[in-house]
Amino acid sequence: MAFDLTKVTRQFPGRLILWYPQLPSTMSEAARWAAEGCAAGTIIGADEQTAGQGRLGRSWHSEPESGLYVSFVLRPKVAADLPVLTLAMGLAAAEAIRLTTDLAVDLRWPNDVLLGGRKCAGILAQWQDGALIAGIGVNVNHGAFPEGLQAMATSLRIASGRIYSREDLLLQLAVSVDTFCTMWEVEGKQPILSLFARQSSYVSGRRVQVEQGNGILHGTTEGLDPSGFLWLRDENGHRSLICAGGIRPA
Ligand code: BTN
Repeated sequence: MAFDLTKVTRQFPGRLILWYPQLPSTMSEAARWAAEGCAAGTIIGADEQTAGQGRLGRSWHSEPESGLYVSFVLRPKVAADLPVLTLAMGLAAAEAIRLTTDLAVDLRWPNDVLLGGRKCAGILAQWQDGALIAGIGVNVNHGAFPEGLQAMATSLRIASGRIYSREDLLLQLAVSVDTFCTMWEVEGKQPILSLFARQSSYVSGRRVQVEQGNGILHGTTEGLDPSGFLWLRDENGHRSLICAGGIRPA
């Protein structure tokens, strides 16, 4: 079903929310609006992305009218470092999914939202012309995934057997993004780090593997450093700070 934008704009008068039937990616459209000086909190969404972008140069599967594909233009009032802001957006996406569906979500560093160990949402955060563009993709009503994604992806529908309103999910997501941005601006990054560590089963004591440019690291996770990076201890007792890439269960 096509997205009913008026259902969302009614609840957020004064906020610029632009919705498109199809875009290459909401990231590039949001960057264009950010460069034009659009207000903080502007949301760009699309029913379909033909070139949806994931982290690490991957693509984001964007089945038409099945998912929520949105980018928020944020203009943090305090100096903000991307890694912790990315964790904050993961917390916002997880909260919105939990409150909309009542499903038990997990977070995998740095920002995958999981249901039953499979990914249902991802975050891509980028600076553009002094604004932070936070792209959030949620697999909402997908009934199935292409073969290459089946083992790792899920949707809210597959996890629960229910169809969800993408409009209701966006309404909650906008509230949750505001909540975690305000938390950052008022209280700093510590509560974001603590909440992420508490809500993620991956941050401490988890055997994982990490793809790095020069090979695969194996080890056990040992918490977050103050910048939001992940500590990993290998079997020789050597501790490394994982600053990029993604982790998988070992
Ligand atoms: C990831 O987990 O790899 C990040 C996925 C981010 C996907 C969203 S969908 C909305 C926005 N537009 C994009 O092209 N990507 C992000």
